[in-house]
Parts: sequence; structure tokens; C-alpha cells
Amino acid sequence: MFEKQKVYLSEEKIQQRVRELGKKITEDYRGKDLICVGTLKGSFVFFADLVRQIDLPMKIDFLGASSYGNQLTTSGVVKITLDLSMPVANQHVLIVEDIIDTGITMKYLLENIKLRNPASLKLCSLLLKPTRVQAKVDIDYLGFEIEDHFVVGYGLDAAENYRNLPYIAQLDQ
Ligand code: IMP
Ligand code: MG
Repeated sequence: MFEKQKVYLSEEKIQQRVRELGKKITEDYRGKDLICVGTLKGSFVFFADLVRQIDLPMKIDFLGASSYGNQLTTSGVVKITLDLSMPVANQHVLIVEDIIDTGITMKYLLENIKLRNPASLKLCSLLLKPTRVQAKVDIDYLGFEIEDHFVVGYGLDAAENYRNLPYIAQLDQ
């Protein structure tokens, strides 16, 4: 059993926001060929919930990225650990990310995908730490802005732990 962690965003609050995001994305992409791309591993829970709230035909794919560095901060060097399994040229691509911290990882990924000439490229992130941003990325769909805390759960980890918590907890208390 996990030690009970301090709840930062409850399961109910997250699920409500995911429904709202899904509804908006459904409206925006009606009639378009959509590929939803989840970033591994952190977005896997959010991604699974979000795609089920998007009432449109779609393809799904995954992108794995890691930034070298210690566990709590990014180093600025990004590596693609798992590439897309399909071409995205002339397709509408929506990247689904768990959290934008410094923005360095996402800036790199967006630039990389852009080179493949998608019809459009948008970003949905569950969380943003606005005070930490170093590389600015435009977030088209945002779940929550959060303060500069280290958070875990709902896919997010600390040294690979806590990903299965159904809520988001604040670890640095
Ligand atoms: P960035 O390049 O600094 O934006 O780093 C983004 C990545 O760092 C995220 O995709 C997460 O994997 C990780 N990360 C940043 N902040 C947190 C956090 O508070 N909890 C868990 N992982 C985090
Ligand atoms: Mg991540």
C-alpha cells in the first residue's frame, strides 16, 4: 500500500476537466482526420481517459521521450526513445502530454514532428507549471496551471513510482 499522499488535484476534479477538454477537442476536430499522440510514459493515464471523451474517429499513437538529467529536473538534452509508428504527413496531429515544466522536452518534440509536415499540430497538456517555463510552447488545450510543486500520480512519477494513483498528489511538502 502507498502511504497516503497529500491530494493536490482530486480524481473528481481531474475527470471533470478531462470531460471538458474532450468536448472542446471533439468540436474543434469534427470532420478532420485526427491522430492523437500520447507521450510516454507520463501521459498514459490522462491519454486513455481523454481519448474516450473525444467523440470522433481517430488513430492513436505514442511517442517516447526522455531528457537526460536527475529525477526532478530536466537537463535540456532530449532523446526520442520511441518514435511514432505511422507517418503523419497531411494528418491533424494532437500531442497529449502530462506536464510542461521547463517546456524543453515539448519544444523539441514539436519541432521534430513539424518536420514531418502534418496538416496541423496542436498540443494538449494536463498540467503546466508557468513559473518554470524556459522554452515557450503554445498549449492549445490545458487542464490545469499548477504552482511549482513536484507532483505525482495519474501517470506522473517520481523515480517510476506513484503512476497508478487515481489523483494527483504533491510530493514536496
Ligand atoms: P520539461 O522538459 O522540463 O518541460 O519536462 C517535462 C517532463 O519532466 C515531464 O514530461 C515529466 O516527465 C517531468 N516532470 C516535470 N515536472 C514534473 C512533476 O512535477 N512531476 C513528475 N514529473 C515531472
Ligand atoms: Mg512526460
